[in-house]
Amino acid sequence: MFQHITPYAGDPIFALVDAFNADPRPQKVNLSIGIYFDEAGKLPVLDSVRHAEAQIVAADGPKPYLAMEGDAETRKQVQMLLLGADHPAIAAGRVATIQSVGSSGGLKVGADFMKTWLPEAQVWVSDPTWDNHRSMFEGSGFQVNTYPYYDASTGGVRFDAMLDTLRTLPARSIVLLHACCHNPTGVDLTRAQWDALIPVLRERELLPYLDLAYQGFGDGIDEDAYAVRALADSGITFFIANSFSKSMSVYGERCGALSAVCADAAEAALVLGQLRYTVRRIYSSPPMHSARIVSRVLGDAELRAQWEGELAAMRERIAAMRRALHDRLIALLPGRDFGYFLSQRGMFSYTGLSAAQVDRLREEHAVYLIRSGRICVAGLNTSNVERTAQAMAAVIGS
Ligand code: LMR
Repeated sequence: MFQHITPYAGDPIFALVDAFNADPRPQKVNLSIGIYFDEAGKLPVLDSVRHAEAQIVAADGPKPYLAMEGDAETRKQVQMLLLGADHPAIAAGRVATIQSVGSSGGLKVGADFMKTWLPEAQVWVSDPTWDNHRSMFEGSGFQVNTYPYYDASTGGVRFDAMLDTLRTLPARSIVLLHACCHNPTGVDLTRAQWDALIPVLRERELLPYLDLAYQGFGDGIDEDAYAVRALADSGITFFIANSFSKSMSVYGERCGALSAVCADAAEAALVLGQLRYTVRRIYSSPPMHSARIVSRVLGDAELRAQWEGELAAMRERIAAMRRALHDRLIALLPGRDFGYFLSQRGMFSYTGLSAAQVDRLREEHAVYLIRSGRICVAGLNTSNVERTAQAMAAVIGS
């Protein structure tokens, strides 16, 4: 029956994690997947999450199906986290939110929804972007194109070229944007650039689709939501998929949401209805445990404060590792510019290393990063940063 199908080559990020796990070398360093590891190299369970789970278990409630759109309290908390508790868009009822299976699940539900209701649209993603963006939208039947983004010569954004491309797009094109902590480059739009971009999105009647997987890992929870709030203020209809995988360190719980900020409450009600139907056709309804964790951590004042402190500590540890790697590299390779480690934001840095250099790092030094040259800075700690810097210097310098 299936002898004719093509073999799956494997996912470039998950395949690398498998290769890392199989590597017997004791000094190996995993800078591949976007996961936060703590100073001891362990995946942390946050105290806020641990306490929330203890309370959930103690309450010993039944486990009914959730609604197709997910848990009401979680959805409310998500809106407030994204937009700020007092944003008028929430009060006006013009935000439609569903709980989703990670932000990937949200992105996919949104993509299927858009293919149904904007069947002629094409999707535009940044060059480069997270590999799976293209796969997801192509999987929903879209043609996926790129707009200019990363400037390898300056380490910044090709902002004028990006705007020039967006100005040529037909109305109702879908423009995927990273709200903060751009994956894979770590290079974000500045506030001034968002302010210049939004009028172009409005004039061209484009549909912004924000991916916010790293809220709190850039400059702070509210700071990282600048783009979301600026778009909501502008009145443009847009979508946003957000995740708690990284910010609450609950990767396997699959906690996320998809929100549509609409022109008015009537449009939001229509969108919510069709998102519910989209969910029903794919997986019927989302998981309950993840919703309970998120709503409890966000809604309980004590747990919320604890979580915000834990998220800040993760953000600050990543920033310290950026500085440590930068300082060691400029000492090892004087005269070279490694300033990008300090200016980039979030878990990732785009090193400019070639695929051949990445292969040497893995094969000769057991340092794993993906072949685009992206490193996950959150995989560094004080025990492995020196080794990593030495390995990088060896492949860059030779
Ligand atoms: C990454 O980019 O490494 C993360 O978003 C994890 C993933 O699913 O690819």
